[in-house]
Amino acid sequence: MGTYKDILKDKVVVITGTTSGIGKEMAKLFASQGAKVVGSGRREELGQEVVRDIKYSGGEAIFVKTDVTDPSQIENLIETAVKTYGHIDILVNNAAYEPNKLFIDNTYEDYRKVIDTNLGSYVMASIYALRHMKAQGHGKILNINSVTAVQQVPGVGMYSLAKAAITNLTKVIALENAKDGIRCNEINPGLILAGEFEKPEVREWAKDAIEKMTPVGRLGTVEEIAHAALYLLSDEADFCNGTSLFVDGGRRLI
Ligand SMILES: NC(=O)c1ccc[n+]([C@@H]2O[C@H](COP(=O)([O-])OP(=O)(O)OC[C@H]3O[C@@H](n4cnc5c(N)ncnc54)[C@H](OP(=O)(O)O)[C@@H]3O)[C@@H](O)[C@H]2O)c1
Repeated sequence: MGTYKDILKDKVVVITGTTSGIGKEMAKLFASQGAKVVGSGRREELGQEVVRDIKYSGGEAIFVKTDVTDPSQIENLIETAVKTYGHIDILVNNAAYEPNKLFIDNTYEDYRKVIDTNLGSYVMASIYALRHMKAQGHGKILNINSVTAVQQVPGVGMYSLAKAAITNLTKVIALENAKDGIRCNEINPGLILAGEFEKPEVREWAKDAIEKMTPVGRLGTVEEIAHAALYLLSDEADFCNGTSLFVDGGRRLI
């Protein structure tokens, strides 16, 4: 897919959660388009494997082991990017997990874990990155959100609370920082062949739901999300600010 070249040439791109799924695909695509990728996640071996793949293909990347529930580790991720490459052009907030539990069954610990991982990390990474972006007079932040920001499904209520808040976070950053040359947008994927859906038994179990919940009748791919992200991070998308791009096969319409 795609024949464009050097869309992110020499851009320093920090991505949270590059050890698997959508984050891993974005890291590889962005590096192939000339970006210097700063990947992160808790699983160091998988993260270093992605760096090796990128370097083998002639790209540039480093991995910074990071647990995004710890703000000091997020700050270290941003500062390591700046120390290594001199500045930060782009932050992609992507790291998250999707617990499946009816709302009534959540404990206080469940609530805190979802909010700290899926929302708190987006908030703090944005604040740390914005300080550099404002000083240098340019930058882009992309939040990987979810169709569940606007559509409820039983069992993902707590996850969707964090996702709904990310839409407002995107708008707040877009509104307050546009005059400083900073853009912030979000992508709202529908069901994607990543995360839990990589397990064949989960795909089989969810087959009917996938067909019923998505008008196009299939899961999306990580490549489809990564290419949407590439567009929103390109200079050609500079008039997009505070935008939600749904890449969901029409799921939000059901
Ligand atoms: N797959 C879908 O159908 C779908 C649909 C809508 C939205 N999304 C969104 O897309 C994004 C990526 O999800 P995915 O499907 O690609 O899932 P995934 O394959 O499970 O990847 C999640 C990534 O987040 C990282 N992560 C999770 N908790 C972390 C923590 N505490 N500290 C640091 N990193 C952490 C993981 O790295 P480590 O485990 O190594 O820490 C991993 O790299 C998420 O924001 C998700 O909500 C996915």
